Amino acid sequence: MTPGASAATDKLLFVNARQVVTCAGPARARRGTEMADAAIRERTSVLAVGGRIAALGSERDLVAANPDAEIIDCAGGVLTPGFVDSHTHAIFGRPRYDEQELRAAGVGYMEIARRGGGIHASVRDLRARSEDELVQLAIPRLRRLAATGVTTVEVKSGYGLTLDDELKALRAIRRLADELPMRLVPTFLGAHEIPIEYRETAARREDYIRLVVEEMIPRVARAGLARFADVFCEPGVFTIGESRRILDAARGQGLLLKLHADELEPSGGAELAAELGATSADHLAAISDSGVAALASSGTVATLLPATMIFLGRTRQAPARALIEGGAAIALATDFNPGTSPTLNFPLLLTLGVSQLHLSVAESLVAATVNGAAALALADETGQLAPGFSADLALHAVEDARELPYWFGDRRCARSWIRGKACHPHDLPVS
Ligand code: NIG
Ligand code: FE
Repeated sequence: MTPGASAATDKLLFVNARQVVTCAGPARARRGTEMADAAIRERTSVLAVGGRIAALGSERDLVAANPDAEIIDCAGGVLTPGFVDSHTHAIFGRPRYDEQELRAAGVGYMEIARRGGGIHASVRDLRARSEDELVQLAIPRLRRLAATGVTTVEVKSGYGLTLDDELKALRAIRRLADELPMRLVPTFLGAHEIPIEYRETAARREDYIRLVVEEMIPRVARAGLARFADVFCEPGVFTIGESRRILDAARGQGLLLKLHADELEPSGGAELAAELGATSADHLAAISDSGVAALASSGTVATLLPATMIFLGRTRQAPARALIEGGAAIALATDFNPGTSPTLNFPLLLTLGVSQLHLSVAESLVAATVNGAAALALADETGQLAPGFSADLALHAVEDARELPYWFGDRRCARSWIRGKACHPHDLPVS
């Protein structure tokens, strides 16, 4: 290797972007009115060195000062931070398209679960599969997500619901983190549902909760297989009291907290998440006024999953405006899962953010980047293009950032980078 060669691959200079959505600012979630500013700069060049953003500035100055940099011609496209998908259930077996028709015929999501379908169907399926199979099934899914500009993705367990099957799912996530260029963040969701075999009596139900609290959480934490623990807190699934016990135990073992809260009916989930200092409270389509107030005055990120409500055919979406007006921080995520949100199109969330949640484009972009990072306790690492942050970028074949939510359902990401390295082989020209 010639002396200049290693430096050249280590130093990237992004030039000729029409706009750079930097989201630059403090290394924390943007709250309330702060979300209105995505810090978009026109015709700015971005220098990355050693996998980190080193400088933003004029092309002429940066080219002159860095003759050894590899030039990336953005061809008049729009550069954004790599998107952060902070809520997915990407480890599952077969898709559940049969339930979509059932719901269209009037059978509700919870009714399907009561009949042994829904999450239970995915649990039966996952238990029958090997760790290898789960990895092989997830790779193309996560690649599709990467193809839309996602560079960081959270992945939950939750379709195993036995100690061994939950560990199998989490080990699959760890292998995916090694095999894929994306940054993966693992979450333990052993409290996704009470398994069918524990449902006959209240004592059996208590046995499952004790299994989660006393065996699963300590094993998962000891093995370092998860960064977060999550609970599906919802009437008919886990109660507030059970969720509190499970999350308390998880926190005691050093895990950070997330909560599926107030998705279909209000039950005080948002209030619980705020009280426990959870990193995020997710869903919130049925949040109460006191839940909005609790999140607004907490450090918990409100992660909204509008694709889920669309796919379930529900008309109610989370009250994003009330949350922002109260001063809360909002993130947007896919909730990618086989039952309620089988989408891997991250930019679709920008569309739903604007058209369903009444966010501005800037608010949607902030929710998809810096606030998604904050929802994963990674706000000091990714989600913004500013000196010191990881060089995680996505280049989109559009001329104006407002086109990102506008071409809905389309895929405009032409290239992406994680830690300054190509994140995914893209096939789209920028112009
Ligand atoms: O976030 N709400 C709970 N979990 C998933 C759905 C899981 C499933 O139906 O398989 C969700 O929507
Ligand atoms: Fe979910």
